[in-house]
Amino acid sequence: MGKIILTGDRPTGRLHIGHYVGSLRQRVALQNSGKFDKIYIMIADAQALTDNFDNPEKVRQNVIEVALDYLAAGLEPEKSTLFIQSQISELTELTFYYMNLVTVSRLQRNPTVKNEIQLRNFEASIPVGFFNYPISQAADITFCKANIVPVGEDQLPMIEQTREIVHKFNSIYAPEGPVLVEPEALIPEAEACKRLPGTDGKAKMSKSLGNCIYLADSADEVRTKIMSMYTDPLHLQVSDPGHLEGNTVFTYLDAFARDEHFERYCPDYSNLDEMKAHYQRGGLGDVKVKKFLNNVIQEELEPIRNRRAEYEKDIPEIYNILKRGSDAARETAAQTLAEVKHAMKIDYFEDMELIKEQSRKYAKGI
Ligand code: TRP
Repeated sequence: MGKIILTGDRPTGRLHIGHYVGSLRQRVALQNSGKFDKIYIMIADAQALTDNFDNPEKVRQNVIEVALDYLAAGLEPEKSTLFIQSQISELTELTFYYMNLVTVSRLQRNPTVKNEIQLRNFEASIPVGFFNYPISQAADITFCKANIVPVGEDQLPMIEQTREIVHKFNSIYAPEGPVLVEPEALIPEAEACKRLPGTDGKAKMSKSLGNCIYLADSADEVRTKIMSMYTDPLHLQVSDPGHLEGNTVFTYLDAFARDEHFERYCPDYSNLDEMKAHYQRGGLGDVKVKKFLNNVIQEELEPIRNRRAEYEKDIPEIYNILKRGSDAARETAAQTLAEVKHAMKIDYFEDMELIKEQSRKYAKGI
């Protein structure tokens, strides 16, 4: 069995550094490792419409933003298939058949869906399409028989749901040998990367809270955001002992800093542990730590920003990349859908045996 990766994002805004450390950075590394046979990266516009159905323009505008962020981060169309979910109609067909394999109560128990329903005030009336999106996500993952799905931690319940669907499908329709593949999630190891807080210290980066650093932010915007970041409210004077718990600047350093950064930008320490120890003892000011963080993040974001500027010069080519990727993904999806329909015995016109069998049955009666 080949090694196949699929993952994606909803195009509801530009991607920020939470997306980057949570999944995007890892995808680029996986792509460049050369260890995978196929890598599919999907812009999940149809899923974005499940809770933005009344704002199609927002989704449409953000498809190109997310595509630019992908390319800027280092995904390469020659190595990874970048495509748009809505352009693969086979996915909706797969979803329709998988719907039979999932109960309403199972969907209601999905913790991510539960959480999102609350966040969107959908409790009183949940749109069916939104409620159904974990099943559609199973179609996204299975159309290409992905076995590895690099995602943020919040997506684990979706992968679990997909595994259940695959298991049920195979056991009912493909007892002689599996048709679909059970995927594994791949999440970042470092705690800080799993859930990078907003610059204000709030648990989640969100556009509405204005607490995100975007991959496309200018160097000045990034610096301003870092210099006004939430730290330790008890650390009033440089000499005061500082706390690391809930200190956003240190959480970001956990996610971004490597020993070599200290050599370059802060040779007083050889690694993050030494810097943390000094902060906790007292005598290390927030400004110095923030300046260090700024250097570290600028170093990581600069090549991304430069690549974005290059890609922005030829927007028609970005749409071409997405079209080529969508055509390739559709071909794979059609193949899987044919196997699914065969397993489900709804391939009437392809199955020569069926016609012979029915003919024999009726020949007997004559
Ligand atoms: N649910 C993902 C998100 O909110 C996007 C997504 C859609 C996805 N389909 C997927 C991720 C399949 C991984 C695999 O960002």
